[in-house]
Amino acid sequence: MTQYSNILVDTRGAVTLVTLNRPQALNALSSSVLEDLIAAFAAFEADESQRCAVVTGSGEKAFAAGADIKEMAEKPAAEFYADDMFVRWQSHLVGAVRKPWIAAVNGFALGGGCELAMMADFIIAADTARFGQPEIKLGVVPGMGGSQRLTRAIGKAKAMEMILTGRMMDAAEAERSGLVAKVVPSAELLDCALKTAEAIAAMPPLAVLAAKELVNAAQELPLGEGIRLERRLFHVLAATEDKAEGMAAFVEKRPAVWQGR
Ligand code: CAA
Repeated sequence: MTQYSNILVDTRGAVTLVTLNRPQALNALSSSVLEDLIAAFAAFEADESQRCAVVTGSGEKAFAAGADIKEMAEKPAAEFYADDMFVRWQSHLVGAVRKPWIAAVNGFALGGGCELAMMADFIIAADTARFGQPEIKLGVVPGMGGSQRLTRAIGKAKAMEMILTGRMMDAAEAERSGLVAKVVPSAELLDCALKTAEAIAAMPPLAVLAAKELVNAAQELPLGEGIRLERRLFHVLAATEDKAEGMAAFVEKRPAVWQGR
């Protein structure tokens, strides 16, 4: 298995576990972390035995406390524009990943850390999790999608208030607001995220890809277009062997065996 400097990658059956591993910097997302994540996600996507991933942070304190401020502090604007680093998070961790992945958020998920969590297909949070977009306090704004994804997730009023004040939201409020799918006691976070990932990994693979594509399309398409896409993907799946197997297994009262075709 590839060794990375800033993350740990472990496969457990059909689930890939990625752990951000810079606890001394509260797992701040440096450009080296991004390179590691790009490589790990590419390997996950390419490996047919892997069906779902979980991303979490090492240490109890943080999922990730944001983009690496020390790295950005002296960086000239021209370099930000030239390397356009933030777009690579979107293209490699969202655009290029068709398989589902879950963010298991322990502790702080701030700035880029909150944005990374929101790039996941959904978030499971520890009761100790705290979310925020504090970039305004640094003289900037979110740069990895926070202003758009947070607004879609929790609505304009709360997103505006959080982004303008930089305040943090605790796990209970995040669950109430629809930012996270579920909150669990801190000690149970990883187990819960892995079990959820295993459950998804056991589903028919093509239907999983289509379901992810459809829910994400709901964030971008007008309703009519989204519903049309849903019907088309339903029709595509109706032609698969897994559909024949799934429905036969139901009728015959036996577990289905998925082929991914
Ligand atoms: N970048 C670099 N280093 C960071 C960091 C970050 N985002 N967040 C924390 N660290 C480092 C600290 O500098 C500190 O290192 P040293 O021991 O070498 O000083 C170490 O992690 C521990 O942090 P603290 O001592 O600050 O821990 P704390 O418990 O007192 O406070 C905290 C925790 C409230 C999360 C605080 O660390 C904090 O406010 N961090 C910055 C949060 C932030 O502003 N994030 C947004 C970054 S900008 C961004 O992400 C842009 C974007 O949208 C892409």
